[in-house]
Amino acid sequence: MASSSSSSFIPIAALTFLVLFMGGSTAQLTPDFYFESCPQLFFTVRYAVYNAIMKEARMGASLLRLHFHDCFVNGCDGSVLLDDTPTFKGEKTAAPNFNSIRGFDVVDDIKSAVEQVCPGVVSCADLLAIIARESVSILGGPYWSVKLGRRDARTASQGAANVSIPPPTSSLNALASRFQALGLSTRDLVALYGAHTIGQARCTNFRAHIYNDTNIDGSFAKMRQANCPKPAGSGDNNLGPLDYQTPTVFDNTYYQGLLQKKALLHSDQELFNGGYTDSIVQSYSSSQSTFYADFVTGIIKMGDLSPLTGSNGEIRKHCRRVNQ
Ligand code: HEM
Ligand SMILES: *[C@@H]1O[C@H](CO)[C@@H](O)[C@H](O)[C@H]1NC(C)=O
Ligand SMILES: *[C@@H]1O[C@H](CO)[C@@H](O)[C@H](O)[C@H]1NC(C)=O
Repeated sequence: MASSSSSSFIPIAALTFLVLFMGGSTAQLTPDFYFESCPQLFFTVRYAVYNAIMKEARMGASLLRLHFHDCFVNGCDGSVLLDDTPTFKGEKTAAPNFNSIRGFDVVDDIKSAVEQVCPGVVSCADLLAIIARESVSILGGPYWSVKLGRRDARTASQGAANVSIPPPTSSLNALASRFQALGLSTRDLVALYGAHTIGQARCTNFRAHIYNDTNIDGSFAKMRQANCPKPAGSGDNNLGPLDYQTPTVFDNTYYQGLLQKKALLHSDQELFNGGYTDSIVQSYSSSQSTFYADFVTGIIKMGDLSPLTGSNGEIRKHCRRVNQ
């Protein structure tokens, strides 16, 4: 008895060691990652995001979206921030991003402010995660502890960006399967989609919904048509608010709009269109605190998507280009 239990102890100890060791090499993200190396980090970022939002309230939405478009394309690795060069095609010109994602100058300003206080320490991927948290919080939404320790990619993929971020014509099933492929649940999908409680979309992305779809409130469709002409190509960049009531406040009115069939995008209304997510939309529309709690769960999970850690990747000096 004694000898058999002591002989099985050794393989178990070895296995435990192996698991711990491997856990160490794919290091976990942790909220206190920069606790000693950059104590001024959070204050520096919050101050800069606050100023940017005071200049233009929509900027908070644009900055939050950058974190999403970073994480959904090969993980949260800062790849979305890389500029094209004559020999390199990045993600900024990919279909979901071109003429659409914005806020890069603000990210540059924040990066240089952080480089002033702790040079060469904080990754651009982590900055996007902190900036997203500050944007949500400053616009009246929840606050959460951001996990950190991501490093920056030395590559980006236009092709991956084209296929990884779902288009606004997507069906509920298409959205859910894309999220599922990343380990995000249907509940995460509906909660994260609540990010559309802030920000704007371009006519080219909602034209078909306001002219052709039937699951839309008639007077709401008319109101949006007034600033989005029917012929393709005319007024493509005219903006409409994703949340018809309060597009600069991070609240749950977005879900109330879905109940009234006042969604701007086809894919928005898919979340409340007689399917299996209706009940989740209903619960968020009546309880802001439930929405906040699930949004926080979802965005932390999204922020965990395949980060580069340990000795992978690098800490970029400038977010628009890889280090020399
Ligand atoms: C998965 C389904 C999603 C689809 C199909 C989708 C689609 C879109 C589209 C088409 C726009 C307007 C872009 C334009 O017209 O230029 C937009 C804007 C926006 N999206 Fe999403 N989105 C999705 C999920 C998310 C998630 C998960 C987040 C963040 C957590 C997010 C945050 C935003 C924000 C904040 C804006 C407004 C940006 C601004 O005003 O600059 N979206 N989205
Ligand atoms: C990505 O989409 C853009 C715009 O539709 C297209 O021009 C480009 O060729 C696509 N890139 C790849 C690598 O598929
Ligand atoms: C509406 O649908 C028709 C028929 O499918 C199509 O020809 C037209 O281009 C669509 N219009 C818009 C604004 O999407």
